[in-house]
Amino acid sequence: MAILWHPEEKEFHLRNDYLSYIITLLPDGSPALAYIGRPLSPDGRYGRLIRFEDRALSTHQPGLPPSFCLEYVPREYPTYGRGDFRFPALEFVCENGMPLVVDLQYRSHRIYSGKPHLDELPATYCESDAEAESLTLVLEDRAHQIEVHLHYTLFANHPIVARRVSIHNSGSKPIYLKRALSAVLDLDSADWEMLHFAGAWGRERHLVRRPLVPGFQSIGSSRGSSSAQHNPSAIFARPNTSETSGEAIGALLVYSGNFSIDAEVGSHGTTRLGIGINPFGFSWKLKSTETFETPEALFVYTAQGFGEMTHHIHRLLNRRLIRGQWQKRERPILINNWEATYFQFDEYKLLSIARSAKDLGAELFVLDDGWFGRRKDDTSSLGDWKVNREKLPGGLESLARKITDLGLSFGLWIEPEMVSPDSDLYRQHPDWAIGSPFEKRTLGRNQLVLDMSRSEVVDYLFDTISGILSSAPISYIKWDMNRHITEPVSAGLPPDEQGEFFHRYILGVYRLYRRLTQVFPHVLFESCSAGGNRFDAGMLAFAPQAWTSDDSDAIERLKIQWGTSFFYPPSAMGAHVSAVPNHQVGRITPLWTRAFVAFFGAFGYELDPEKLTEAEKAEVREQIAFYKQWRILFQFGDFYRLEGGRSGDGSGNFVAWMSVSEDRRRAAVLVVQVLAQPNPGFSHLLLRGLDPSLNYQIRVRPAVAVKNEASLRYNEGLRRGDELEYVGLLLGGDGWNGGSRGDFASWLFTLEAH
Ligand code: DGJ
Repeated sequence: MAILWHPEEKEFHLRNDYLSYIITLLPDGSPALAYIGRPLSPDGRYGRLIRFEDRALSTHQPGLPPSFCLEYVPREYPTYGRGDFRFPALEFVCENGMPLVVDLQYRSHRIYSGKPHLDELPATYCESDAEAESLTLVLEDRAHQIEVHLHYTLFANHPIVARRVSIHNSGSKPIYLKRALSAVLDLDSADWEMLHFAGAWGRERHLVRRPLVPGFQSIGSSRGSSSAQHNPSAIFARPNTSETSGEAIGALLVYSGNFSIDAEVGSHGTTRLGIGINPFGFSWKLKSTETFETPEALFVYTAQGFGEMTHHIHRLLNRRLIRGQWQKRERPILINNWEATYFQFDEYKLLSIARSAKDLGAELFVLDDGWFGRRKDDTSSLGDWKVNREKLPGGLESLARKITDLGLSFGLWIEPEMVSPDSDLYRQHPDWAIGSPFEKRTLGRNQLVLDMSRSEVVDYLFDTISGILSSAPISYIKWDMNRHITEPVSAGLPPDEQGEFFHRYILGVYRLYRRLTQVFPHVLFESCSAGGNRFDAGMLAFAPQAWTSDDSDAIERLKIQWGTSFFYPPSAMGAHVSAVPNHQVGRITPLWTRAFVAFFGAFGYELDPEKLTEAEKAEVREQIAFYKQWRILFQFGDFYRLEGGRSGDGSGNFVAWMSVSEDRRRAAVLVVQVLAQPNPGFSHLLLRGLDPSLNYQIRVRPAVAVKNEASLRYNEGLRRGDELEYVGLLLGGDGWNGGSRGDFASWLFTLEAH
C-alpha cells in the first residue's frame, strides 16, 4: 500500500493490492479523479485519461484553452458557478444572502501513515499506523478566504478509501454553508446501475436495483434519522455485476442523520456520485476561523462482484468501526420480553420468563418498554426514567439482582431522545422538546423529540442514564427512537443557525453515546429505532449491534437480512425467534426455520417461553446449544448470498446464504423454500468460499422432518470443497411420495473440514 505523489505530473496515486485511486490536478489547479479501479502500475502516469474537448456550448476559463470545460471533466470536490452545471459538493452564501462562486485550487498536501481521529463524528480508525496511509489535499479560494481539506485514507488490506472534508473560514466574516458533501466521485462512464436499500417500518432495506438514466437521481432522508425508507448506503455496479463477478463501487456514509446519495448522468456519458449530509433544509453558519467537518464516506471497490465488496466492508466495520470491549466479541443470546408481554408485566412475570429462558440456555434477559414512570401504554412517561413501583415494587436493582442471581445478564430498554407530553420531564421543561411550546407540535407515537442539539439536554440525559446504569447490574442497553422529527427548530439556536439543527441533533446523540460508552465500556448497546429505522454505520461506532427490524417473521426477514447484509455484518444484525402466528404478518412458520434465519445474526428470542410446549422447549434448548457452538461463525464468518431469486433481492421461492469461517474450515449453509412445490425438480446449490482441497463433513438439519429425506441422503457425509463449489449441494426431490414439508421449509447444512 502506498500513496504516491508525482510532482511533475501533479498526480497522486493511492494504491494497494486491490485498487488504484488516482487524482490529478486540472489546468485550473483543482483536483480531478483520473481513475478508480483495479490497481494500475505505480510507474505509470494517468492524467491523460482525462479527456479535454471543445464542444458546442462549452464554457471555459480565461487564460485556459477552450477545450478545458468544467462541465466535462471529473472533479473531486466540485463547486457551482463556473461552468459545471452538475450538482456541486459545496455551496456557500454570504451573510447578505449573496451566493458565493467558489474556486478551489490546490495549495499543498500531506501524505502520512495511519488515519487521523475525528472528534465529534464517528469514523473508522486504525490500531497501528501501518494499517493505512492518508492524504490531505489542501485547497483554497484565496479571494473568499475559504480553505477546504480533502482527507483520504487508503486501508492496507481492503479496497476501501475513506473520504471526508474539513471546510475552514479564514476570512473575518461568517459565511453560510448550504451544502457540504462528504465526497463526490466523477466516473468516466454512464454504464452503471444503482443498488440501494429502500423500505419502511417492518420491511427495511429491501434491495432495489435500477439502471442509471440521464439526469439526476437521488435517495436520502430528511427525517432526522438515517431512516427505514432509505439506508445511507448504495452500490454503483456494472449492469452485468453479480455476487461473484463484475465491477462495483459501494458507498457507505458513517452517519445517522439526514443524508443524500445522488447520481447524475451527464450529457456526455459521465456519472457524478455524491454522498453526504442532505442539503435539503441544511445550512451552517461558518464563523470566522471556524471549521466544519463532514461525516466520513467509505468507498469500496470490487472487480469481483458484490460478495467481495461485502467481505471487505464487513471486516472493516467489525474490526475498525465497532470499538471497545465489544469489538469482535461474541454477542450474548438474549430473551426480550416485548412481544411476550408488551406493556403488561410485573416482576413475577418477568422473573418467570427469565427463569424459563435461563433453563433453555439464554444468556441475557432484556426488559423492554414499560418499566418506568406511569407507562402502561405508549401515551405517557417517556422522559421519566424512574422505575414504576407498581410493576416492579423492589425497583430495578432488585429485579436486576434476581435476574443475575439466576445466572443471566440483565439488559434494559430506554428511549432517551423522547419525551411524552404526559410526563414530569415535559411539565418541567416544555422547551426541551423540539419545536416551539407556543405552536402546534406534531406527535408521533404520542411523543415529542427532545432537542439533542442542546447541551443541557444531553447533560441531563447523561446524568439520568448514568444513574440508571450505576444503580443496578446492567450490561446491555437497547436504545430505541420511535419517531421522525417534525417542526425542526431549536430554542437553543438563533434564527440564522436553525439550518444547523438536524446535524447538531445527531452530534448531540453521538455526544451522549460517546460519554456513556466511555464511562460504561462493559455495556453492550443495541441501537433500535422502531426496528431498523436507524441501522447505519454511524450508530455502529457506538452500538455494536442494531435491531434489524420489528418484523421478526422468518420469511420477511429473508429480504430484510439479505439487503442488510450487503454492507452490515451479521454480528451487528439483531435477529430473534418470535412466536407464531407472527405478530407482524400473522404467518405460521416452523420453529426451526425461524431459528435458522435468526442464527445468521446476533441471535435471541422475543416470545414467552412459558407458552412453549415441552416439545418446543426441547427444540429451543437444542437451538441455543447449537448456536453457542457455531456462534463465532454465524456472527463473524464471511457471509455469502447464494440464491435470492430472479431479482436477486432475497424474495425468491428459494433463498440460500452461507457463512464461512476465516480459516475456511467451517461453514453453515441456509436453504429456505418459501412455498412448497409438488414433485420439485432436481437442483444444485453451488457453495462459495470453501477450500477446494479440503474434505468437509456435511451434516444437514431440516426444519421439518419428513419420511423421504432426499436432501439428507444425497448430501451428508464427506465431500470435497471443489465438488461443493463446482457441483454444489444436491437439492430437490423432497416433496414427493408423501414427503411434503409444507410451506416455509428450510435446511441448515453444516460443514466441517475433516
Ligand atoms: C420499537 C422497537 O423496535 C420494539 O422492539 C420495542 O422495543 C418497542 N419499540 C417498544 O416500545
